[in-house]
Amino acid sequence: MTTNTGLKLVERDSAGVDRAFRADVLAGLAEPQKAIPARWFYDDAGSQLFEDITQQPEYYPTRAETEILTERAGAMADLIGPGRAVVEFGSGSSVKTPLLLSAIAPSAYVPLDIAGDFLRAAAADLAAKFPGLPVYPVEADFMRRVELPGAVADLPKLGFFPGSTIGNMIARTATDLLRSMRETLGEGALLLIGMDLVKDEALLKAAYDDAAGVTAAFNRNLLTRINRELAGDIPVDQFRHEARWNDTFARIEMHLIAAADMTFTISGQRFTLRSGESIHTENSHKFTRRSAQMLLASAGWEPRARWADSAGQFLLLLAEACPPRSAP
Ligand code: AVJ
Repeated sequence: MTTNTGLKLVERDSAGVDRAFRADVLAGLAEPQKAIPARWFYDDAGSQLFEDITQQPEYYPTRAETEILTERAGAMADLIGPGRAVVEFGSGSSVKTPLLLSAIAPSAYVPLDIAGDFLRAAAADLAAKFPGLPVYPVEADFMRRVELPGAVADLPKLGFFPGSTIGNMIARTATDLLRSMRETLGEGALLLIGMDLVKDEALLKAAYDDAAGVTAAFNRNLLTRINRELAGDIPVDQFRHEARWNDTFARIEMHLIAAADMTFTISGQRFTLRSGESIHTENSHKFTRRSAQMLLASAGWEPRARWADSAGQFLLLLAEACPPRSAP
C-alpha cells in the first residue's frame, strides 16, 4: 500500500519548471490523439476562470449541487449524525463546505489538497467562519492513501467530494481514487459525493461552451500556461474551443482545435499540427442513478441515500465503506 509521506509534492528542475507538467505535456502532444491531463488547467488564472464558469447561466452543476446542500441539509444531517471528522478531498469551496458543516455539527474538518497555498488559505477562511471547529489541513496527493492527523484517528469520518470532480476521471482512475478514499477513511466511514447526471445533449454542450466564452478562455489558458511555464511559442489565438458529447462513454469532452497547419516549440521540442487536428484537454463524465451506484459499489462503497436538485440535473450520493462480503 502506498501512503503519502512528507516528500515534496511538486518537483521543480533548476529553472523552476514543474517536471510533472512538462512530462505530461511533452508526452501528451506526442500521442496520435494529442491530449493534456485536465489537472493542469488550474494555475492562478485557470482557477479564477473556473470560478467565473460557475457564475455562467449555462453552467448549472454548481447551482444545482448548492441547492441540494441547502434544501436537503436536514435529511443529510439525520443520516450522517453529529461528531464526525469531515475529510474534504480538495481545498473546499467557500459556498458548499460551510453549508455542509453548518448542517451536520462535525467535530473536526480536514481539507486535503496537493496545492499548499490554496489549502492554507481555504483552511484559514473556514476556521474563521467556524470558531471552535478544529481544522487540520493536510498537503497531500489524495489519489493515494493519505495518513490523517492523529487527532482525528478515533473519530467517525465523513468524506466529502463535491463538484462531480470524480467525473473528470476515466472509470479505471475513478475506481482507484474511490478505493484510496476508502483506505484513507477506513471501514464504516461515510462518503458524500457529487455526480452530474446525463441529460439533454444541448444543455450539456452549452454548459461547456457558454455564450460569454468563459469556458473557451479556460480551455485556451492551458496553452498560455504552457507558453509561459514551459518556454512555448504556441499560437494560442489559432485554437478554437470545442465541447463534444461522447455518447459511448457518456461524457463531455473539451478539445482545442487547430485553425491552421502549424508548427511550434515547447521546451525545445517541435510539434506539428494539421488544420482541424485537436488537443483533447478534458473529460467530464455524466452519470445515471445506476451508473453512479455501480461505480461506488465497484470500489467498496455501498449507497445509503441519494438526493437530486429540483430540476433533476445533479446527484449527491451518500455511501458507506462496507466490509467485503461474500455474495452469490
Ligand atoms: C472540475 C468537474 C467541476 O467538469 O464540470 C467546468 C470542470 N470544465 N467547465 C466540470 C469544468 C469545464 C468541472 N469540474
